[in-house]
Amino acid sequence: MVNAMKRVLVFDSGVGGLSVLDAIAASGHALELDYVADNAWLPYGLKSDADLRARVPSLLARLSEQWAPDAIVVACNTASTIALDAVRAAIALPVVGVVPPIKPAAAATRTGVIGLLATPATVKRAYTDDLIQQFAADTLVLRFGSAALVEAAEQKLRGETPDSAALAEAINGLFGAPGGDRLDVIALACTHFPLLAAELAHAAPRAVTWLDSGAAIARRVAHVLGAEQGAARMRRAGFTDASAVNGLAGAFQMRGFAAFAAIGASPAFDAEPVVDSASA
Ligand code: DGL
Repeated sequence: MVNAMKRVLVFDSGVGGLSVLDAIAASGHALELDYVADNAWLPYGLKSDADLRARVPSLLARLSEQWAPDAIVVACNTASTIALDAVRAAIALPVVGVVPPIKPAAAATRTGVIGLLATPATVKRAYTDDLIQQFAADTLVLRFGSAALVEAAEQKLRGETPDSAALAEAINGLFGAPGGDRLDVIALACTHFPLLAAELAHAAPRAVTWLDSGAAIARRVAHVLGAEQGAARMRRAGFTDASAVNGLAGAFQMRGFAAFAAIGASPAFDAEPVVDSASA
């Protein structure tokens, strides 16, 4: 008997989770991948903690009923650092979250100065403070929060030129901070930002090491599902604001998605096929 492929639902506020989906696909495991963007609520980095803790678990609980995944990846640092426990309480499936890569960044620095680039919400979370205290207590951590950089990544995946002012502001915010002259490792703690890796490296005044969590999440997902070696297969991408499908279809199609769904407003979050339909 051939085992059915395990299905993973990758979730983010927007296209950022595609950096994690890319890492899962590159890890060489036979997984079926669905994607959901809560883009009606983008950016999460400017939403309140209470709003995110209320919305994300109920949206994911509803999607897990409708799309029947075997595991969920909360491919969003902003949601993971505030709502992961609430998502796990709401859903009886393995839920993998993203942890800002502070531990590997602190291990990699030679100068003792690292950058933390994330959303305005993630940089000030208690969860982030705890990680720094636990893994980077002897390291100077320069934090910069940017919502404009999230939008710049969205622009890039729509085929537009990402806002150079957003890139410059983030780079100056890190390298121009006291101690920034010794910065040698930057932790990308928003899943949108690896999508701008080339642009960020180009805007930086010198070469540094950029770290993200994609590969670690991919390993974790394969482990929790006991996934076999093989090729990932993309199934369906859903959006809470389906009007964005037009601009973003190319970025999803080039990754192998052929079916798109519109996810309705809360509290039902009903998924309706748009453009094409995929069998459940
Ligand atoms: N991609 C998300 C993250 O990893 C957040 C983007 C947003 O602010 O919506 O934090």
